[in-house]
Amino acid sequence: MTRTLLAGAALLALTAGASAQTVGFSQIGSESGWRAAETTLTRQQAEERGYTLQFSDAQQRQENQIAAIRSFVAQGVDAILLAPVVATGWDSVLQEAKEAEIPVVLLDRQVDSSDDLYLTAVGSDLVHEGQVAGEWLVGEVGDAECRVVELQGTTGSSPAIDRAQGFRNALEGKANLEIVRSQTGDFTRAGGKSVMESFLQAEGGGQNICALYAHNDDMAIGAIQAIKEAGLKPGEDIKIVSIDAVPDIFQAMAAGEANATVELTPNMAGPAFDALEAFWENGTAPEKFIQTESRLYTQADDPAAEYEARKDLGY
Ligand code: AHR
Repeated sequence: MTRTLLAGAALLALTAGASAQTVGFSQIGSESGWRAAETTLTRQQAEERGYTLQFSDAQQRQENQIAAIRSFVAQGVDAILLAPVVATGWDSVLQEAKEAEIPVVLLDRQVDSSDDLYLTAVGSDLVHEGQVAGEWLVGEVGDAECRVVELQGTTGSSPAIDRAQGFRNALEGKANLEIVRSQTGDFTRAGGKSVMESFLQAEGGGQNICALYAHNDDMAIGAIQAIKEAGLKPGEDIKIVSIDAVPDIFQAMAAGEANATVELTPNMAGPAFDALEAFWENGTAPEKFIQTESRLYTQADDPAAEYEARKDLGY
């Protein structure tokens, strides 16, 4: 951030006070239960802190996000939250926000722009998430031969790129584990189900598949349906590991139909607003990356209790 932007932010704090702030939020859409929870928690956090939240649902389209950011800049909001659908193509619009002295905070996904175009990014280590999922599978399978299918997230998004990489890192040197099919299911249940149906058909009705790695729980849940319809037992005939830790995957784990998930907290707004408040207050610049935790849950972690604990949290 430039000195001018810092001075502008400090002046704003003096004249407005943090609780009167208006924050624009460009959300990707509502492709998954996790995303719905992130939206709910962002609204709650804004309300609790007395902000006005201008919410824009991009319906998965980057051009809608770019238009929303331009509209927030034209309105002169005090900050912008951006959950970027894909990693590339943000330089110009982020430059416009910077020139308007509006701090931008990235939520849950990364961009390939220079980090001086945004204040900070709140999210998990997405490569690590994929690695944790892969290490779980490596430990689970041992020396047995295992043909793995992969449901990738939205093409070009940072979680799809990084979760694929992390998983492959974990499998490196394990000749008994092979990723035999990999395709995007776009982070949706419907996408997960239909792509899994094609995997099953191509792999002997599922007889040749030992495990599924899904880049999010929603796709895993869609795939579970497809596996059941193919007459197989998900979680037994085909082991399933995914990412997010949404309530529905804990229900599936409690029923023995899914095996493991890596948690991604949907509360990205809490740390984002804390960083913005310090910035508005006196120009304190946060670290460029505020990392959230990634915890592995398996069937040994009382999934029924985890479901109960999460079911009313806005997923
Ligand atoms: O960017 C985070 C990912 O996006 C979540 O894992 C997924 O559910 C969401 O749609």
